[in-house]
Amino acid sequence: MKKVLITGSNGQLGLELNNILKYKYELILTNRSNLDITNFNETIEFINKHKPEIIINCAAFTAVDLCETQEETAYSSNALGPKNLAIASSQIGAKLVHISTDYVFDGYGIKDLNGNIRPYTEEDKTNPQSAYGRTKLEGEKLVTEHTNKYFIIRTAWLYGEGKNFVRTMINLAKTNSEVKVVQDQIGSPTSTEELSNMIEKLIETENYGIYHGTCEGYCSWYDLTCEIYRVLDIKTKVIPVTTDEFPRPAKRPKYSVLENKKLNELNIYKFKEWQEALIIYLEKDQKTYKGDIK
Ligand SMILES: NC(=O)c1ccc[n+]([C@@H]2O[C@H](COP(=O)([O-])OP(=O)(O)OC[C@H]3O[C@@H](n4cnc5c(N)ncnc54)[C@H](OP(=O)(O)O)[C@@H]3O)[C@@H](O)[C@H]2O)c1
Repeated sequence: MKKVLITGSNGQLGLELNNILKYKYELILTNRSNLDITNFNETIEFINKHKPEIIINCAAFTAVDLCETQEETAYSSNALGPKNLAIASSQIGAKLVHISTDYVFDGYGIKDLNGNIRPYTEEDKTNPQSAYGRTKLEGEKLVTEHTNKYFIIRTAWLYGEGKNFVRTMINLAKTNSEVKVVQDQIGSPTSTEELSNMIEKLIETENYGIYHGTCEGYCSWYDLTCEIYRVLDIKTKVIPVTTDEFPRPAKRPKYSVLENKKLNELNIYKFKEWQEALIIYLEKDQKTYKGDIK
């Protein structure tokens, strides 16, 4: 059995990857307490000791607003950490999967020949607008500089096991008869299950490079909330508001839609539509979250 090392294994994606890969691989699950990826010596020693064939980096400083005031700390986890992993991977010849984000783009969208906004592809110019986006883009660059065997996957609007938008909206409905949700930010909600299924397929290949990996289709946070409440038959009223009415420390991209161009061209994995993936997630989650809402 091949060995796969997962960093940040207690996070949303790390937990799901454990569920999905454990039947096929010997997993080495790490978290900050046994492998802090910002510590160069610790990372090199740990990886040289265990010699995994594949390393999947799910560790990151993901608190987007906190990154604005703690950019140095964010840089350590989001840029130096991936660099350390890339150096270690390269030393032992392991494949490195590194997860990145839609925040590497500016969120203004790209105009097609007819002047319509189209989704970002892997070749489009990056231009992060927040500290989180800047540090994640640096992480991408450092990975490409320090190993050849990398898969960088940019994903977006992730939800799974842990704190996420879907669970927040379900919880808010328990105590509110109405909720206000932003309707002018557009993206593709993506379940950690779908992303993990895609990673499972990708790591079997040697098609290294940068990939976009999100569920198909797109919506606003308002649309997403309406769909969650519709599926769970929650009666709380959803009121659309603008980003300006909801000021946050970090600038959010308004248009975050990514095209899974490379994945589709290489026929590696076809993501489900976001509504289908959401229903699968809510069905699995309903015992914990639906029961006491109605
Ligand atoms: N969540 C989203 O909507 C979203 C969207 C686009 C891209 N992404 C990317 O997807 C990946 C997975 O995200 P996620 O939602 O699963 O994140 P998450 O739930 O926040 O998990 C991240 C994990 O990384 C750990 N970590 C942070 N710094 C570390 C370090 N220096 N060494 C070891 N572990 C460290 C955290 O541990 P502590 O709890 O101890 O800090 C946490 O367990 C990340 O690369 C993220 O940037 C996420």
